[in-house]
Amino acid sequence: MLKLIGDKKKNVAVFISGTGSNFLNLIKHSFKRNSKYKIELVVSSSPRAKGLNHAKKYKIKKKIINYNNLKSSEKKILFELKKNKIKLICLAGFMKILSKNFIKRYNGKIINIHPSLLPKYKGLDTHQRAINNKEKFSGCTVHYVNSKLDSGKIILQKKVKIFKYDSGYKLSKRILKQEHILYPKSLKKVLINL
Ligand code: GAR
Repeated sequence: MLKLIGDKKKNVAVFISGTGSNFLNLIKHSFKRNSKYKIELVVSSSPRAKGLNHAKKYKIKKKIINYNNLKSSEKKILFELKKNKIKLICLAGFMKILSKNFIKRYNGKIINIHPSLLPKYKGLDTHQRAINNKEKFSGCTVHYVNSKLDSGKIILQKKVKIFKYDSGYKLSKRILKQEHILYPKSLKKVLINL
């Protein structure tokens, strides 16, 4: 009986705004035999996010938030999180900034994937900025979310080489491949302590 309780999968919510390839990848990993989580909910900041198709295919509950008003939008999200007993929030290409209040409510339970080797290249257009600065490497980072943009404690990182005649597009594709390895690994690490 005790073992059964310990083996229970933790409910995870994924927040998206666009394509949702990380979302799909996390769904697929959640079906693996040793997975310790179940994706119970997806929150999208756009009704047009392509990633919502994955929710439909895999029958995952979805909540679309219009974000006209931050306070009431977050209130709706908090309600869904509570209702679905969410233990961990994974931001995956979610392009909205969460309020300090929201982060406080889920302190230590929100993680994000960012396409650079943080603390370098916080924010947007990371790939082109790394190329323009003639960096030899870029990569991706999974980190806890705190109230400062892309600044929370780092969980895992993966380096990706930048080639001489790289383009932002090509680099982003190579980094995305690594994101799909790094995010499930990070989840495993984080869930042990939840
Ligand atoms: C990913 O590259 C992710 O790291 C990035 O958006 C992309 C989403 O792709 N996130 C950020 O830039 C957050 N600052 P996906 O929708 O295919 O998962």
